[in-house]
This record gives sequence, structure tokens and C-alpha cells, in this order.
Amino acid sequence: MANTEIIYDLVYSEAAEGILQRIGKNVFSDGAQCEYLGQTGYMTETELNRVISLLELKRDSNLLEVGCGGGGCAVYVASRVGTHVTGIDLSGSGIRKAKRLALSQGVESRTRFECADASQPLAFGESSFDAVLSSDAMLHIARREAVLREWHRILKPGGRILFTDAAVLTGIISTEEISAPGQVGSGHVVPPGLNEGLIQKAGFELLGVEDLTASVEQIANRIFEGFRKHQEEMIALVGEEILKGLQSHYSWKYTLAKERRLSRFMYVGRRPS
Ligand SMILES: C[S@@+](CC[C@H](N)C(=O)[O-])C[C@H]1O[C@@H](n2cnc3c(N)ncnc32)[C@H](O)[C@@H]1O
Repeated sequence: MANTEIIYDLVYSEAAEGILQRIGKNVFSDGAQCEYLGQTGYMTETELNRVISLLELKRDSNLLEVGCGGGGCAVYVASRVGTHVTGIDLSGSGIRKAKRLALSQGVESRTRFECADASQPLAFGESSFDAVLSSDAMLHIARREAVLREWHRILKPGGRILFTDAAVLTGIISTEEISAPGQVGSGHVVPPGLNEGLIQKAGFELLGVEDLTASVEQIANRIFEGFRKHQEEMIALVGEEILKGLQSHYSWKYTLAKERRLSRFMYVGRRPS
């Protein structure tokens, strides 16, 4: 697949908003009330509502979202719950999109978006946040053990963390599959149990782990179909070569999820009081 930075620049651009909204509406609808929030991961509105309750988010909570992308989840939490949300992402285009979205939803005073590399020490003081969320970004972030220790430092005692990891190896993947066009890109595949161990090593109590691979199977397939249905518009936006790469990525994700060889898990932890 083409350089992930180029792809994120395209996906988070203003020009992409219309077409992604049309595709996303069908992709993320898992019930009458489910909307496309502007997310690029696999988090649906139903899942995000569960996340809000698992993180015990309230109106006066301070939430940090790591790898917030275009701000779909952050803006939803800020507008639904009233929570103060700080979102950080490596992508400048993602941060610009998140700011546009917050403005359009009238939550710019409850949200703050900054460009930052989450694999490095964060520019926040100790005990600054009540909760940390990271949706489908962890697989891209290096130095996971240090990242979790950093979340522990910036979290208040009793605060919670929740992240999803869509690259847990739960079956056999051949070397041809791992190096095929459209594979995980600049990501990290981990064995089952590794995240649980790192969460505890960083000082958190592990509250729960949930297998959410079924969502990848469904969503990756729908994205693939959406790209096919809107092929002309997608080619106009990203070009033929990038579209091919994106399609083979989602087809690869679909197959591996369906066969439960690469799984998506959600982890919830708590910093002891
Ligand atoms: C699959 S997207 C998910 C975005 C968002 N959480 C959502 O669900 O819409 C992964 C995001 O992680 C970001 N990312 C990758 N590496 C990062 C890093 N080291 N620090 C911060 N963000 C990073 C990417 O720029 C991208 O926006």
C-alpha cells in the first residue's frame, strides 16, 4: 500500500468528506440509530456508547484520546456527554479535520486537538486526565510499554484507560500474506496476552478484555463494497493505484478477521487509587 501518511492526508482532507460520509453511512450503520461519526477505525456508535460507560465519562471528566484521527469519536463524546476532550494525532491533516468537525458540531470550547507523536513523552502534567481512550491506533504506535507507562503518569488515580488493538495474532499468517500489498502497513502485530501483560506492568489493574473481531469482519467487508460501489468518485479522490491498495487492505483484513487469524480486542484498565 502507498505511504500511510499520504493516505491519511487524503482521507482526512476536506475533499474526502462528502464521499466518506456517503460510504460511511452504510458501513457503520448497525442499527437504526447508528451514524457515521467520521471515524477511520472500526469503532461504531454502539461500541462508543459502551466505551463512554466503561470509561465512566461524565460532563466534567477530562478525556485524552490518543490517535484521534479526524476527531469522529472525540467530537461525539464531547457533544453527547459534554466531556472535555483532548485529542492527539501524528497526522496534521487529521488534527485539522478534527478541528473542522468540532466547529461544525459546536463543541470547539470542549475540545482541544494537537499534533503529537504518542510514542514519545506527552506534553501533559501528572494526573491531568480522568480517562485515556485509543481507538484502533495502538497497532501503529511504537514503544507500547513506554506508551502505557506515560498514560499511567498523566492519569489521575482511579482513572481508566481503554484501547482497541486490531492486530492480535490469533492464527497462522503466511509470510506471503504478511508482505502482500495492502497488509498492515507500518503496524505491529502482537501475540494474545501481550497487551494484558503490558497493561499490568505499567501499573494498571486489568478490568476487562473483549474480542471484537466480528466488527472488523463486518466493517472491512462493507468498506470494500462501498469503495466498489463508489469507484469513480474514489478514483477521482485518491487515484487508481491508492484505491487498489485500500481495497486489497480491506479485503485482507476481512479474510483474516473472518478466519479469526488476526483479531481485534478491547482492553480496559484502571489506575489504582
Ligand atoms: C486507524 S486510524 C484511527 C483514528 C481514530 N481513532 C478513529 O477511530 O477515527 C489510526 C490513527 O493513528 C494515528 N497514529 C499513528 N501513529 C501515531 C503516533 N505515533 N502518535 C499519534 N497518532 C498516531 C494515525 O495518524 C491515524 O489517525
